Amino acid sequence: MESQERAISGERQGGEVPVELSLRPQRLAEYIGQARIKENLSILIEAARQRGEPLDHVLLYGPPGLGKTTLAMILAKEMDVSIKTTAGPAIERAGDLAALLTNLRQGDILFIDEVHRLGRAVEEILYPAMEDFVLDLIIGKGPAARSVRLKLPRFTVIGATTRLAMMTSPLRDRFGIVHRLEFYDAETLQDIVTRSAAVMNVEIDEEGAREIARRGRGTPRIANRLLRRVRDYAQVRAAGHINRDVACEALVLLDIDELGLDEIDRRVLETIITKFSGGPVGLETIAASISEEADTIMDVYEPYLLQLGFLDRTPRGRTATRRAYQHLGLAYSGSDDSNNQSSLFDL
Ligand code: ADE
Repeated sequence: MESQERAISGERQGGEVPVELSLRPQRLAEYIGQARIKENLSILIEAARQRGEPLDHVLLYGPPGLGKTTLAMILAKEMDVSIKTTAGPAIERAGDLAALLTNLRQGDILFIDEVHRLGRAVEEILYPAMEDFVLDLIIGKGPAARSVRLKLPRFTVIGATTRLAMMTSPLRDRFGIVHRLEFYDAETLQDIVTRSAAVMNVEIDEEGAREIARRGRGTPRIANRLLRRVRDYAQVRAAGHINRDVACEALVLLDIDELGLDEIDRRVLETIITKFSGGPVGLETIAASISEEADTIMDVYEPYLLQLGFLDRTPRGRTATRRAYQHLGLAYSGSDDSNNQSSLFDL
C-alpha cells in the first residue's frame, strides 16, 4: 500500500460496527465525566457555530483510553463536518501530509493521534498550514527547485498525545485549545459502565456496575473491556445477569485485583521491590527485567500506578512506595522520605 494511503483512514464503510466504536458517545451531551473539558468544548462549538467559522485547533493529552479520540469524533459530529483520522508515525513524508491537507474541505477536522511522533520535515509543513492555511511545497530538485504556495481551506487539527513533553514547542503553540484528560473517579466510571451495559443490552445491577468501575483503573476503555469479559462470564455461568458476585468471580478469574491491577502492573511493582530493593531503578532496566517495552510501561502502566501513589519518579529512577508494598502484602524495607517526589521531579 502507498504510504499516502496508509496515512489516511477515513470513516468506516458499511459493515458491522465494532462494539468498541458503538460504545463511544456520539454527542457531547452523552459524554460522561471530564466536566470542565466538556463545558469548554461546548462553548467553543457554540461560538464557532454562531460565527460560522471552523473550530480553532485543539490538542488533547493524557493517558491512553480516557477519551481523546471520542472527543475528536464528537467535535466533528457537533460541528457537522467530516473527520479524517491519522497518526504521527503514519505520516512518513511531507508529501503524505500534503495529500491529507489537500483533500480537506472548509471546516473539516484532521485528527492526528500520537501527534508527538510527527517527523521534523512533516512538522515544518504543518506549521504554516495550521497558522495561515497555506501549503508550501518545493517542486523539483537542485538549482531548478522552486517553491509554490497553495491555499488551503480553513480546517481544524485535533491532536492527541500521551506525551505532551515530547512535543516541540512550536507545534504545541499552534494549538489554540489545550486540554488534559484526567482519570475518571469511581462514580463517574460506574455511570459509564451502566451506560455501556445499556448500549450492549446487558442486564447489570448497581453493585455489579460499581464493582467493574472500581477495577477499571479510572479509564473508560479498561472499564468497558472488563464489562465485556464479565458479560461473557455472566452469559455462560449466570444466566446473563451481572451483579456484584458475578462481577467479582469473573474478575478474579481474569486475575484483575481489587484495585484493577493486572499481572503486568504487579510484575512492575514486584520487580522494583524484589529485584531492585524497592528502587530507585531506571525505566529501561525495569522494562528489560519483565520483557516489556519501556514506552508501554511509561504510557500504559505507570500513569495509574503513579495516580495510586504506588510508584514515585525520582531523578535516579522509579521507587515503589510503602503503599505498593502493602498492596502486594510485602514487608516495607524503604525509607519514607523517598516518597512523594514525583511532583518535584516529574519527568
Ligand atoms: N464510553 C467511553 N467513554 C465514555 C464517556 N466518557 N462517556 C460515556 N460513554 C463512554
